[in-house]
Amino acid sequence: MSNYHIKQFEEYFQVYRKSVRNPEQFWEEIAEEHFVWRKKWTNVLSWDFKKPEVKWYEGAKLNITENCLDRHLRTRGDKTAILFEPNDPNEPAEHISYIQLHERVCKFANVLKEKGIKKGDRVCIYLPMIPELAVSLLACARIGAIHSVVFAGFSATALSTRINDSDCKMVITADGSYRGAKTIDLKGIVDEALNDTPGVESVLVAKRINSDINMKEGRDFWLQTLLDEAYQDCDIEIMDAEDPLFILYTSGSTGMPKGMMHTCGGYMVYTAYTFKNVFQYTEKDVYWCTADIGWITGHSYIVYGPLCNGATTVMFEGVPSYPDFGRFWEIVEKHKVNQFYTAPTAIRALAKEGVEHLEKHDLSSIKVLGTVGEPINEEAWHWYDDNVGKKKAPIVDTWWQTETGGIMITPIAFATPTKPTYATLPFIGIQPALMDENGKEIKGNQVDGRLCVKFPWPSMARTIWGNHQRYKDTYFSAYENMYFTGDGALRDEVGYYRITGRVDDVIIVSGHNLGTAPIEDAINEHPAVSESAIVGFPHDVKGNALYGYVTLKETGESRNHDNLRKEINQLITEQIGPIAKLDKIQFTNGLPKTRSGKIMRRILRKIACNETDQLGDTSTLLNPEVVEEIIDNVI
Ligand code: PRX
Repeated sequence: MSNYHIKQFEEYFQVYRKSVRNPEQFWEEIAEEHFVWRKKWTNVLSWDFKKPEVKWYEGAKLNITENCLDRHLRTRGDKTAILFEPNDPNEPAEHISYIQLHERVCKFANVLKEKGIKKGDRVCIYLPMIPELAVSLLACARIGAIHSVVFAGFSATALSTRINDSDCKMVITADGSYRGAKTIDLKGIVDEALNDTPGVESVLVAKRINSDINMKEGRDFWLQTLLDEAYQDCDIEIMDAEDPLFILYTSGSTGMPKGMMHTCGGYMVYTAYTFKNVFQYTEKDVYWCTADIGWITGHSYIVYGPLCNGATTVMFEGVPSYPDFGRFWEIVEKHKVNQFYTAPTAIRALAKEGVEHLEKHDLSSIKVLGTVGEPINEEAWHWYDDNVGKKKAPIVDTWWQTETGGIMITPIAFATPTKPTYATLPFIGIQPALMDENGKEIKGNQVDGRLCVKFPWPSMARTIWGNHQRYKDTYFSAYENMYFTGDGALRDEVGYYRITGRVDDVIIVSGHNLGTAPIEDAINEHPAVSESAIVGFPHDVKGNALYGYVTLKETGESRNHDNLRKEINQLITEQIGPIAKLDKIQFTNGLPKTRSGKIMRRILRKIACNETDQLGDTSTLLNPEVVEEIIDNVI
């Protein structure tokens, strides 16, 4: 019998030991006993981090939607699968049962087929948090199309870059979206993006805000009209375990966003297994993850992981501040949410508003609290514990990444004793390592280093779409035979991990990963700009905010600097999206550089963080004089 549901700390250790001593046997048992396969694997795992190549459940045949939908129809067909809570609190919530979801997915899948989408084709999904978003992921998966969801806050340029990178044939979008009191013209953004995407043949448009939009004859189709005519039965496409399931883009420290590719079998097993255990989901629970499905958290822990377990998963369209800062708590009370999973940035924003919003609502249904996306500071952790969990709900601080597909280091609710700001222990099957700068593993406790993983796990991304070399260079070249995460971490005296943050040029702002290079590229497109450098500095709600140092072509630039600042942020909004806007922009006469011409971001970071006493020796710089000037003019 496999240990599918771990309930105690001793049991965690016992199962963990088993999972690392004999990973193949362990993951074989879990897969065999808890999932539906059309054919069993011939080999549980083959791997080589040097190549790199990882295969799980090779030879197995399955479809993830049979596991998420069909298998529940008989046992829990009328149970709510997706509980949709709209942006407007006066609009009624929608309870979509497993039977209804199955039917909606089948119909949608038939629409995709009717529009010429086949197994292996890429479909870009650019939708707000409405049920069609979850349905469209599952519809793609049902027919073996590879979905590539782009968060609907990205700009037209960012969208077209992603569409072209994976050569999507279709885009699924909506006429617009609600965001608090505002509406957003999504279709307008898509139209702009599609000026530059030769591969897109069709666009399906869901109606959400009933706006008057432009529909291009022969290319754009109203989704509902097609659904009304679609058959409600759709057989699954039988997929190989290692066939791609989806692509999801994440920022790198340089260049293009990376299209992380996940595959069907291992991703299904690992997301389902982690969901069940980390959150201790039981049959009658209502689970709510506040992330957007445009990010990996939504893919794995709103859609696939919960549905594979037959869970009720809440999808919230709106924002925590609308109509007021009590909205989350109103929803928790209304739907009697049992597991609540959010990001530190949301916790900090809510904490800032005080506890009066919380006090108006009954939060006694909450059993487990979760956090993800960035390190949680001690103050936010305690606020969450004291006021939301009332010191009774364990906080699972889950560390993981788009690349890892599922939760990697985390407490198991009720089993692992928690510790503020610590993600605690590796999940079952995960073998972390801390490395020093010389490439040696740091053993023992009370140490810190760069966080790596020594052994494959089922849901790891298999490649970067179209660029396997970059996958190798980014994740498998820094340390021999290790997956390198890009994060720093420390291990305390009992072996608990605390993630200290990125050690590369990725900055996490409000839980969103932002690479500095694409932002700098956007700034440098401004005709008045000569060069720029972006660093992060601490922000009490966003965790980090962006500080830009910008050198102008003409030092005596006569234009008003405030206008220039606006223009720069406008360029960033157009190229990437409003999430990448700079909080501070300082105009400089030069940027500190090494003699080989490399910008010394470390120095700029210290200045932005007001740590000028820690600059170290600047005399070896090519242009040490600019440092003083930058310090004098700091914002
Ligand atoms: O730096 C880590 C941080 O978020 C990065 C991954 O971002 P992304 O791929 O967007 O996925 C976010 C959601 C899984 C990591 O490299 N991070 C994520 N979770 C935590 C975290 N940092 C500290 N504690 C966490 N719990």
